[in-house]
Amino acid sequence: MALQLRVYVPPHPLVQHWLGVARDANTPSSLFRSAITELGRWLTYEAIRDWLPVLETTIQTPLAQCLATFVNPQVPIVVIPILRAGLGLLEGAQTVLPLASIYHLGMVRNEETLEANCYLNKLPSEFDQNVRVLICDPMLATGGTIMQAMAELTQRGVDPTAIRIISVIAAKPALKKLGTAYPSLTIYTATIDEIVNDVGYIVPGLGDAGDRMFGT
Ligand code: URA
Repeated sequence: MALQLRVYVPPHPLVQHWLGVARDANTPSSLFRSAITELGRWLTYEAIRDWLPVLETTIQTPLAQCLATFVNPQVPIVVIPILRAGLGLLEGAQTVLPLASIYHLGMVRNEETLEANCYLNKLPSEFDQNVRVLICDPMLATGGTIMQAMAELTQRGVDPTAIRIISVIAAKPALKKLGTAYPSLTIYTATIDEIVNDVGYIVPGLGDAGDRMFGT
């Protein structure tokens, strides 16, 4: 059977609550930042549920021996925030994955062409072949930014099956591009919106995530 992009919208009340807070135009910047951090926490929790490598061993409790399961420290976990707004999701992701390595990717959109430009790339030239990569990109709109981030990773030998994306809002145009190019990819998002307007904003969306987060 042909592979197809998997997009999960966790039916969790906390995810829906913080999405509502983030969408509300009356939410001040400090609370908006908290909302994105909380979404980063819960979406990461959901995204790693069946994905974080574990190992089983025997331990001694104060009373007896028993089996125990631990996160496997041999498998490198990498989190990649897409700047600027990905920094909010990263903060939440790090509370769940405190030992992950963080590599920053800075992308800015040309407001006329809507093309993404990479102004900061801290990715290593290659990754461990067993690496698991979590990308934090709050707004998957036209798909320009996330497609460029995916290209940077696959050029460095990372297989799309080893990558998961967390986003606050995923819009159809981005999902279509990702699904065509990387059908083995998995995405966790708080919601899916249908529309991207002609200046590249998701509708209803939440506005400019970076501006709202940093009060600019
Ligand atoms: N980036 C944002 O911050 N908001 C959108 O609606 C689309 C892209």
